[in-house]
Amino acid sequence: MNNLENKTIAEIVSNDISAASVFKKYQLDFCCGGGKTIAKACENSDINVEDVINDLENLTFSNANPNLNFKDWKLDFLIDYIVNVHHTFVNENISIINEFAQKVATVHGEHNPENIEISNLFENLGNELLAHMQKEENVLFPAIKEMLKNKQNNFHFGSIDNPVKMMEHEHDNAGDIIKKIQELSNNFTTPDHACNTYKALYHKLEEFTNDLFQHIHLENNILFPKVRQLENDLKK
Ligand SMILES: [Fe+2]
Ligand SMILES: [Fe+2]
Repeated sequence: MNNLENKTIAEIVSNDISAASVFKKYQLDFCCGGGKTIAKACENSDINVEDVINDLENLTFSNANPNLNFKDWKLDFLIDYIVNVHHTFVNENISIINEFAQKVATVHGEHNPENIEISNLFENLGNELLAHMQKEENVLFPAIKEMLKNKQNNFHFGSIDNPVKMMEHEHDNAGDIIKKIQELSNNFTTPDHACNTYKALYHKLEEFTNDLFQHIHLENNILFPKVRQLENDLKK
């Protein structure tokens, strides 16, 4: 048996981001729950571990997206990438998704009541993410950049581990909400009678989910462990 199954999901995705598509296919969490081994995660979700391993081994590297080696990037560059790519994406998509979700909830809520819950959940998620990203952009990320520049930890709130833990906790909450939306929408599958707004909403929600998983993965599994390591190194 392959030793892949004893590696954690986070480890595998950190080494090769194209593996994220396999975990997404089986709805295995590669951001917040990424600390589990593949074997454990499959066991918990009642998934055949061999199917997952097969897919991982068959991954071709000819993705449309280049394989970006995030884990080898300098931390300040990674932070700028997260803000420019993922924070911008969230900022640009929240209001349009809210608009679609409210419309679908109003028009289809009677026959497909899950859309009312989806609309409420997404509105909460959007508000939480906006506040969360402000904390990262105004407090945590500048503090990390200061640490990198001055080679010392001048963080005003004690250990940088405190705000990092808070961000991880908020990621867990966001992850829970998006997973609930994924479940309610039957993994973003529209019914046959769905109108174009309904289809557009589910397409946008799926796109948003993929982006959020990748965003949280970069922070939880690459940025934050390196920040903790940096703080420890500076103490020496
Ligand atoms: Fe972020
Ligand atoms: Fe975050």
